[in-house]
Amino acid sequence: MKYGTRTGNAAKTRTQCAIVGVYEDGQLSPSARVLDKASKGYLRKVLKRGDISGKANQTLALHDVPNVAATRVLLVGLGKEESMDAAKYAGIARTVIGKLKAISSRTNLCCLLEVDVPDKGIEWKTQRIVESFEGGLYSFTEMKGKPPENSDSIESVDLFLGDKADIEAVTSSISVGNALTAGINSAKTLGNLPGNICTPTYLADQAKQLAKDYASITTKVIEEKEIEKLGMGAFMSVTRGSDQPGKLIVITHKGGKPKDAPHVLVGKGITFDTGGISLKPGAGMHEMIWDMCGAASVFGTMLAIAEQGLAMNVVGVIAAAENMPSGDASRPGDIVKTMSGQTVEILNTDAEGRLVLCDALTYIDQFNPKTVIDVATLTGACIVALGSHASAMYANDDGVAADLTKAGDNSLDRVWRMPLWEDYQSQINSAFADMANIGGREAGSITAACFLARFAKKYRWAHLDVAGSAFKGSGPAKGSTGRPVSLLFEYLNNLAD
Ligand code: BES
Ligand code: MN
Ligand code: ZN
Repeated sequence: MKYGTRTGNAAKTRTQCAIVGVYEDGQLSPSARVLDKASKGYLRKVLKRGDISGKANQTLALHDVPNVAATRVLLVGLGKEESMDAAKYAGIARTVIGKLKAISSRTNLCCLLEVDVPDKGIEWKTQRIVESFEGGLYSFTEMKGKPPENSDSIESVDLFLGDKADIEAVTSSISVGNALTAGINSAKTLGNLPGNICTPTYLADQAKQLAKDYASITTKVIEEKEIEKLGMGAFMSVTRGSDQPGKLIVITHKGGKPKDAPHVLVGKGITFDTGGISLKPGAGMHEMIWDMCGAASVFGTMLAIAEQGLAMNVVGVIAAAENMPSGDASRPGDIVKTMSGQTVEILNTDAEGRLVLCDALTYIDQFNPKTVIDVATLTGACIVALGSHASAMYANDDGVAADLTKAGDNSLDRVWRMPLWEDYQSQINSAFADMANIGGREAGSITAACFLARFAKKYRWAHLDVAGSAFKGSGPAKGSTGRPVSLLFEYLNNLAD
């Protein structure tokens, strides 16, 4: 969809729909006041009748408002003026796009930038509007026999500005928002594609395509033969059970000075997780098409920063493999040697994410990274602990943790820091090897992070367990959420400033 800016008189703008806010206490937003004045008090009359009280997310579409050029006026409730906040604002934007979709409003004038949100400027509001609208417009139709019609019924949204001086800032925020949503959408689609299509080879091909599409990107795909040669026994123990060859995909974005050390993102890319010989129960197993959402978010973030042209060096590494049971698959009790030299007793082949990630975390040492963030749908326990609203964050560095927390709060793609205390480490001790790949029933997300921490000692590192936040396994919103692309994009942008 196309976003633009508009200034002037909101009442005189020809459009299919003008969107204006009304507060719960009867206050009109500035543009609502303009429309009300032009229509000689029509808006206030409607409000008095009580069809809309202004509670957040209420909507009311008015047609043929006198002396207003817009075909329709969509009133949207903003709630109480004093209780407006960032999350509420984004929620209102999502409500609006839902409504515009329902009425297939082709051209639109959105007068929501004038709504005050504490601590947030016009750039933030613009980016959130673009992100929320595009989020609402996304649908996954790649696997339908025929692409559904009229998916492009909304053509344009012009953001109304009371002050011409804001045009530049808003225009540039629109393009940042567009870059971000391109990344989010690509992460969603990669996540939603089923395991028979989105294989490690498919992910590698997408990464190679990214290098063709963006001059700042180069892609290197490391094949199994070399993965084996590098000594990645843990990665190999996962991929060996599958007929699909595993890949380590290295995507490099050169936006900074050539000699600048990069920030590194690492994604779990299990394109399907059956559990292996420690087979998962059949009932929910199909949800494991999303076990590469960490990788998808790394891919999406790389796409977004390349599209934006972020002035920073970033390396995205995707550990892509399929976890299958087979005659050659790992058995519970197997012991493997990781690239770091540490050995692992595989007590459960379903704890495979940490096995592919630990070798990727060792591999990236060579980049001398400024910071490392890994992203993984790592544990069911994470969902039990935090549900779907926050991603679990673990960090060996308070600065990285603070930066991620801030980025999460600002992007509304939030994280919650979990403990990585030494006390938990003994749960993954092994009598036979240097460590076991599971830590028992208690604190499952934490012990998984403890395992990874043993491979991330040489740099400032954080781990995001996105098992609960990256996708919805069922229900009306079934599919990838695109998280945590928004968080990572914000994190990197803040560090680049
Ligand atoms: N991919 C799963 C974790 C998962 C479960 C993600 C549900 C999203 C939704 C992971 O590979 C896994 O199977 N983890 C095991 C670890 C256990 C064996 C220690 C789990 O959480 O049960
Ligand atoms: Mn598993
Ligand atoms: Zn998994």
